[in-house]
This record gives sequence, C-alpha cells and structure tokens, in this order.
Amino acid sequence: MVAEGILELTLGASDGSRLPEWRAGAHVDLVLPLADAEGEPLLRPYSLCGDVADRFTYRLGILREPAGRGGSAWVHDHVKVGDELAVSPPRNHFPFAMDERVLFIAGGIGITPILPMVRKAIFDSMEWRLIVAARTTARLPFREELAHLPQDRVRLHCSEESGMLDLKALLAPLGPETTVYSCGPAPLLDALQALNQGAQWHLKIERFAAAKQPKAENQPFDVICKASAKRLHVPADKSLLEVLKGAGIKVDSSCRDGVCGTCETRVLSGTPCHRDSVLSPDERAEGTYMMVCVSRAKSDVLELDI
Ligand code: FES
Repeated sequence: MVAEGILELTLGASDGSRLPEWRAGAHVDLVLPLADAEGEPLLRPYSLCGDVADRFTYRLGILREPAGRGGSAWVHDHVKVGDELAVSPPRNHFPFAMDERVLFIAGGIGITPILPMVRKAIFDSMEWRLIVAARTTARLPFREELAHLPQDRVRLHCSEESGMLDLKALLAPLGPETTVYSCGPAPLLDALQALNQGAQWHLKIERFAAAKQPKAENQPFDVICKASAKRLHVPADKSLLEVLKGAGIKVDSSCRDGVCGTCETRVLSGTPCHRDSVLSPDERAEGTYMMVCVSRAKSDVLELDI
C-alpha cells in the first residue's frame, strides 16, 4: 500500500523479457478476469508511474474505488504476488513535451502519470514545480518517493488541514512560458479549465471521469469500416461502438465514457462529432482519430480504418 486505499502493483513479463518502451504520461490496460456489461473481459486503464528507463517492470498505482465498476476492488482483493494478468501495450494520451516552465498539479492518485514527467523534467534540467493535493496526509500516495524530490520545488497540500487549494492565486502570476500538467478528480480539472479560459498559460490534463459535455441530440449516420469491408447504419439510439461490436467488428473498449482512449480509432474520411474527454482541442480539429464509444458523426457518412 502506498497510501490509504492505494496499492502499488509491479508487473514484469512472465518470461522475464523486456517490456515495450513507453514515455511519461502513458498508461496500460489491465485485462481483468471479470465480465463487462457485454460479457467481454473487463479492461481497466492505469497510468504507468515507474521509471521509463526500467525495461523490465511496469509500476501502477491503483486506488480502490468503491463506487467504480468493480475493477479496482477486484485488483485490491484478489491479485497476489506471482499472479499472471494480461496487459495491453502502453498507450499515451497525455504526452509530456519540452515546455519552458512546467507546473505539475496532481490530485491524489492523479500523481501516477505525473511522477514520470517530474523525473523527465529533472533529467532534462527543466524549470518545474509540483503540487500534490489530497484530502489527508494518509491519502497522499508515494510520499516516500516525493520526499526524495528537491523539496524547494514540491508542495504537498492536505485540504483537511489547510483548506482548498487556492488555484486562482496560484495560477495568476503564470505567463505564456508555463504549461500546467494536471491529473486528478473532476472538480480540480474543471476549475483549471475554467481558469485557463483567456489566460496566457497552457493547460494539459488527463481525466479519470468524463467531462460534462454540452447537451446534443444524436443524429443517425452511416459508417464505412474500410478494413472489414462493411457499411453500417448507426441509429440515434445506439452508440457507434455498439453498432461496430454488433456487426462483429473487434474494437477494444474499457470505460465506454470517452475517458480512457482505449477505443481510439482512425478516421479516414467524414467529420467526427467529438464527445470524449481525451483529445485536445487541436486533435479534435484535426479529426484524424475519434473515440467510438461516445463520439458520433457530423457528416452523413464516416469512414473508419477498422
Ligand atoms: Fe474509453 Fe472509449 S472505451 S474512451
């Protein structure tokens, strides 16, 4: 256990071989021996929090979420040292760039994708600061690891002791040279997005739960699945993912809420109507990829590389 309700899982290949490379911000999907709503194995995404230079182990931090869909509770209650689990290769929807100045803001378990970014920032002698917030000290994960970071750059904030983090005061002095990377609960990320409106600093976030989307009516559309040579109709009352799966087309999915990025699919033509919480505004505008669990089409026909 690395904090109250949070366990650390260290994974290695069962044959001892090297694991696929990854970069800060990446996650893997754990394939759990539980069935999801459609009877398929439950996939759960977890950020990699270990060292990118370690080619033989992946480290994950897993918060027990009593109100979740059972994946984290199963890991807490059933996984034992030596067990075998299937794991997807790493994917990265939260890439870390060489920004001039960086402010990391982690809320609780949101520290997991941030830790490798901090190591990278130290390695590259970047200008960085880290704020880790949690309700209580006991819920602050990886405290030992955090204690080894340069303490003049790290601030641990417990809201039960010090009240809510004053984000407005914290962010007011930041200029266009600063990028804020944040991961944590929705209220933290919603507040950051609101404060970022019209501000000069840049914001990159990763969510665990879907952001509120503006209400929009579903329109029916057709989808052409190029690799499967199929044309399908997506009615207003079904998701694109449901229609694809119903036609026997294999698409990995996990959250089905537009948060994890597992169902990301390449768009060959047509205009997606993005409703996910993964793609950045630039990526949405490019329209090259879409999350088929929640996103739909603005055009009458979408062509997908699937
Ligand atoms: Fe998670 Fe689609 S299944 S984004």
